[in-house]
Amino acid sequence: MYVAVFGSKPYDVEYLDRANRQYGLKFNYLKAQLNEETRELVRGHDAVCVFVNDKLDQLVLETMADAGIRLIALRCAGFNNVNLRLADKLDIKVARVPAYSPEAVAEHTLALILTLNRKTHKAWNRIRENNFSLNGLLGFNMIGKTVGVVGLGRVGIATAKLLKGFNMNVLAYDPFSDELAVKAVGIKTVPLQELYHNADIITLHCPLTDDTFHMIDAESLESMKPGAMLINTSRGGLIDTQAVICSLKAGHLGYLGVDVYEQESDLFFEDMSEQIIQDEMIQSLQSLHNVLITGHQGFFTREALTAIAETTLANLYEFDQTGTCKNLLAKNCFL
Ligand code: NAI
Repeated sequence: MYVAVFGSKPYDVEYLDRANRQYGLKFNYLKAQLNEETRELVRGHDAVCVFVNDKLDQLVLETMADAGIRLIALRCAGFNNVNLRLADKLDIKVARVPAYSPEAVAEHTLALILTLNRKTHKAWNRIRENNFSLNGLLGFNMIGKTVGVVGLGRVGIATAKLLKGFNMNVLAYDPFSDELAVKAVGIKTVPLQELYHNADIITLHCPLTDDTFHMIDAESLESMKPGAMLINTSRGGLIDTQAVICSLKAGHLGYLGVDVYEQESDLFFEDMSEQIIQDEMIQSLQSLHNVLITGHQGFFTREALTAIAETTLANLYEFDQTGTCKNLLAKNCFL
């Protein structure tokens, strides 16, 4: 099987090559992201391997079908960047890595919360300049505060467990949650409005779907506690960024920590330091002292990269041998 690996970075090459030792598949590592402009690069391969910001919509999928490609191997858990209905119509299968290391994302979520709260990023800068003043670095104790976890899947549960370790009052909302799993963690599920209303920290761990698109908008922000902290390590589209900027500027939302951003495909994973950034929204966010942005690095641990590479290879190999694989997305993901 000859696989075009789009958006390849040095770490992708290192981890995929290591996992491939036992399979011997042939990879064509391409730096380009897969999108309408680069779609012709798919020709000559049997499968494509893509990541979160490759955009597989109509033109790309039709070109893939025309080129005889039968499998899209996502080297991530989320699949909002693939038009699944059309892929299904064109008989192109989609496999993903459903669970590689929820703890990696949960621990990064904690890093965002603690950094925003105790302002360690600012302290680090100050100390380097021999500024030992504490003014402006005041934080709050986590113990006894209420945190709202939206989405109780793998990452949400892992995050809730960590937060319980701080002796926080953990509320959660998930319309499809597994009650047994929730009970086992010892957290309380509540309606979404109640969560917004009571939480000092709200952290998003649900997928981006038609239902969750811009779930954080002017109205939901209004129902949050003044001074609340909002964290998003899931997908940028969960948040109406403009509404969040307004709320931050009005002094209602107290803190924002994001590892994902709605327009991230034009920015993230690249060194843009020599370019003039045209995106006004991210510039606005960066100008606010109570905002912390990381560039989609929640997954970026040695353990997670190893697991992603191993599952991706297993998906490709199993599909090559049998025409199917256990991590294919089921129809109920998009019907
Ligand atoms: P999962 O599929 O295990 O869990 C998602 C949960 O969200 C499910 O329990 C589902 O019932 C729930 N959900 C669905 N619709 C909802 C709604 N309207 N409101 C509240 N909950 C809802 O997914 P997992 O692995 O926990 O991933 C969570 C998110 O994290 C995904 O968006 C994924 O794309 C993102 N992610 C981000 C990474 C990063 O590097 N920042 C890395 C890996 C995942």
